[in-house]
Amino acid sequence: MNWWETEFVSVRGNRLQIAGREAAELAELYGTPLYVYGKDRILELYARLDDAFAQHSALPARICYAMKANPHRGILRLLRKRGAWIDAVSPCEVETALKAGFPAERILFTGTSVSRADLRSVFAVDGLTVNIDAAEQLDLMSEVKREFPGQTIRVSVRWNPGIGRGFNAKAITAGKRSSDGTPIKFGVEAKKVIDVFTRARKLGFRPVGLHQHLGSGWVREDFGKVQTAVDRMVRKAREVEKAGFPLEFIDFGGGFGPRYLKSRGVFPVEDYIAYLSDAVAKAGLSAKALAIEPGKYLVGDAGVLLLGVEYVKESYGNIFACVDGGTFNTVPRPAIYLSAHHEIVNASRIDGESQARITVAGNLCETGDVFGRERSMPLPRSGDILAVLCAGAYCRSMASNFNMREIPREILV
Ligand SMILES: Cc1ncc(COP(=O)(O)O)c(C=O)c1O
Repeated sequence: MNWWETEFVSVRGNRLQIAGREAAELAELYGTPLYVYGKDRILELYARLDDAFAQHSALPARICYAMKANPHRGILRLLRKRGAWIDAVSPCEVETALKAGFPAERILFTGTSVSRADLRSVFAVDGLTVNIDAAEQLDLMSEVKREFPGQTIRVSVRWNPGIGRGFNAKAITAGKRSSDGTPIKFGVEAKKVIDVFTRARKLGFRPVGLHQHLGSGWVREDFGKVQTAVDRMVRKAREVEKAGFPLEFIDFGGGFGPRYLKSRGVFPVEDYIAYLSDAVAKAGLSAKALAIEPGKYLVGDAGVLLLGVEYVKESYGNIFACVDGGTFNTVPRPAIYLSAHHEIVNASRIDGESQARITVAGNLCETGDVFGRERSMPLPRSGDILAVLCAGAYCRSMASNFNMREIPREILV
């Protein structure tokens, strides 16, 4: 069995199967490029989180799907039926979640650099919780709140615990600076948290939660630092409660990822849930619920992008599989983050005698438009179907129309 195989993607007769169907057949039926997402895989991953909470936590869990990972309507409806909550970061995401049937009470809006217009549209959704990202945001919130007299507006505070973790400097969202020195813009500094709760209440908001999000794409090696951040969160929650703000929920954010690379260890999600549940229980907090915000974990490896090989080109000793899609329009992660890796398999012949070092080149006018650089794989032929794995998260949702190319069709199987 290959390291990347799951019940969603597997091999039969040297050809790739997606949810039990021939990848090449799906490509023929729907055309390429094509995103294929797997319902059963998403539900299985959701169940793992749900079961871990059921086993380790006395408190109910809110599994808030970070819909920025993939706001496909079918995925949203699937997760809503399964009992998920929503992490939304823009008014349009809130509106999409409502349209998919999520009640406002199950939506947490976490904005950054929020505008009056953003606040107006989220305050209009009665029952939703607004996460405060900055002490300095409160004046604006108070001003907009006047347009909603008599309405109870639930708020939580996103604090920055001073530790961040992520697979790439651009995906670290807590701490003072990211690993490349970029100042981190998110969250309220530790020393200002109580003041934000106090002022929020004074201004007539109803504080109900404390939130943190460290970053995205954790692997096994991140577990130690993540545990330290959990400990900090619990200490801060205790401080908040002692200051007279009983918390309805504590939200640990998202961050744990699927396996993108063979060489990286998988983040121990179940141990993480056990750890945070235990830390909260031991602290004797009055919090009524624990929340996490998985994006990548739920949908990352439940998605595949199928590409057709147009021709194979040789130039100065480099061999290119020239495919019918471009990274920016389909799987932009490798073009945005140099360290983002997506495994690529030839769905038409998984193994073959003539292994070659292939660069999978897209159809955009940009040297960086490569899905994978010098990957070892059987020499593709014109008409072969290549599958870019782990394409369920931050692919379609980050895709653009660069070069005026279309964004591919998506199917949920
Ligand atoms: C506030 C917040 N919560 C959750 C997530 C989801 O992260 P991931 O997809 O890594 O689980 C993000 C992503 O950046 C986020 O900004």
